[in-house]
Amino acid sequence: MRSRKQSWCQLFLKLTVALGLLWTLFLVLEMQSSWPIDLTHRNHWLDYRDYDFGPETLCNCSGLLEGNTEALVEAKLLTITKEFQKHIHIPDEYYINETKDCRNFKSKRKYITFALSKEEEDFPLAYSIVVHHKVQNFERLLRAIYAPQNIYCIHVDEKSQASVKAAITGIVSCFPNVFMVTHAVNVVYAGWPRVQADINCMADLYKYSTEWKYFINLCGQDFPLKTNLEMVRMLRSLKGGNSMESEDMPGSKKWRISQVHQIVNGAIKSTGKSKSPPPFNFPIKSGNAYIVVTRGYIRSVLKDTRVQDLIEWAKDTYSPDEFLWATIQRIPGVPGSKRPHTKYDQTDMNAIARLVKWFSHEGSQDSAVYPACQGSHVRSTCVYGVGDLQWLLENHHLFANKFDMDTNPIPVFCLERHLRQKALAETEGQFFF
Ligand SMILES: *[C@@H]1O[C@H](CO)[C@@H](O)[C@H](O)[C@H]1NC(C)=O
Ligand SMILES: *[C@@H]1O[C@H](CO)[C@@H](O)[C@H](O)[C@H]1NC(C)=O
Repeated sequence: MRSRKQSWCQLFLKLTVALGLLWTLFLVLEMQSSWPIDLTHRNHWLDYRDYDFGPETLCNCSGLLEGNTEALVEAKLLTITKEFQKHIHIPDEYYINETKDCRNFKSKRKYITFALSKEEEDFPLAYSIVVHHKVQNFERLLRAIYAPQNIYCIHVDEKSQASVKAAITGIVSCFPNVFMVTHAVNVVYAGWPRVQADINCMADLYKYSTEWKYFINLCGQDFPLKTNLEMVRMLRSLKGGNSMESEDMPGSKKWRISQVHQIVNGAIKSTGKSKSPPPFNFPIKSGNAYIVVTRGYIRSVLKDTRVQDLIEWAKDTYSPDEFLWATIQRIPGVPGSKRPHTKYDQTDMNAIARLVKWFSHEGSQDSAVYPACQGSHVRSTCVYGVGDLQWLLENHHLFANKFDMDTNPIPVFCLERHLRQKALAETEGQFFF
């Protein structure tokens, strides 16, 4: 009896040990499958494909990116259905709530939280993003450009709605390398504060780290056309140069800098008084608000006394964002700058900073700069539609403006999916830990 009992005991023990071993093996395998090392094989879990629910999955993005007529017609029909319209708007409250649990938010939204390659890790970028509304646009933009080695300064307009501020603060709080600007200003269209918002972020980014190589400024309605790796390679090929529109100022715009302006009740107005010429008789160049510049250029903006004089002089002009960066770009000695001679002028189409379709340059004739906008217009610029996608990707620019999730979300859905697939494919097998 006793020995029988003992053998039962032994069998039980053996079984327990065997089960324990099996369990351990299972755990080890399980852990391995979620170890980053497994990413060298496949990273489908970071792909948007299987994740994005909702009506956008109904459209044929690969067809749209190729300009396929059938896909375009289908997408346009889809956009106007009630069901689609009902689902596209995401309220600010959603982000406020979701970002209370950052871990969950980041994994649900599939943020890439490790550097995809050594090449990208060794070439960090610094972003300034100026936002005032449309949180969903901002979040999709951030998700598309987010990488843990980059840093992001977010300027939310001082007069933005409380829910917009709270939603963006929530999103920002989920990332150690994304922060709110130290001093937010009240942005006035075409007024000096628009420039001040970027300068405040420049100062914060400059202080935050000395590692980053290039500065890029964005607004909430921009979207990338390139992956982070593609951007890094294009920026490296600039060999320390800056890239932005910088051309002679046309006569029709000279009033902007020859009259004193001031902000009255949140709008900019001419006082009728004339301004003194710019300091050092710098030739004032024409450009736009969006630039791609080296850390050295930012140092000049913050510390070069000639630039400080120019900044002081520019504060009462009209739309200083459309000439200040372009002019600094032509000051001798500014890192990455070009000589002021017109032979060194760069147009917005040749620069890589920003792709914008201006109403006045659209058309089908040879004299047009680009084909007509397939979406709608806001302040004479194109809000892209699905029919613009193929053209967008044919260009070399890092970013395009303007996108609107509330009226035309499919271009963003297709671009983000395209870029994510590309980013994962590019770095397949190149992970390092
Ligand atoms: C999507 O468009 C492409 C053409 O660009 C076509 O080959 C493909 O069959 C389409 N897919 C669907 C599901 O309609
Ligand atoms: C708020 O977030 C939690 C967890 O992230 C979720 O379970 C809940 O449904 C959300 N509530 C609302 C009202 O969205």
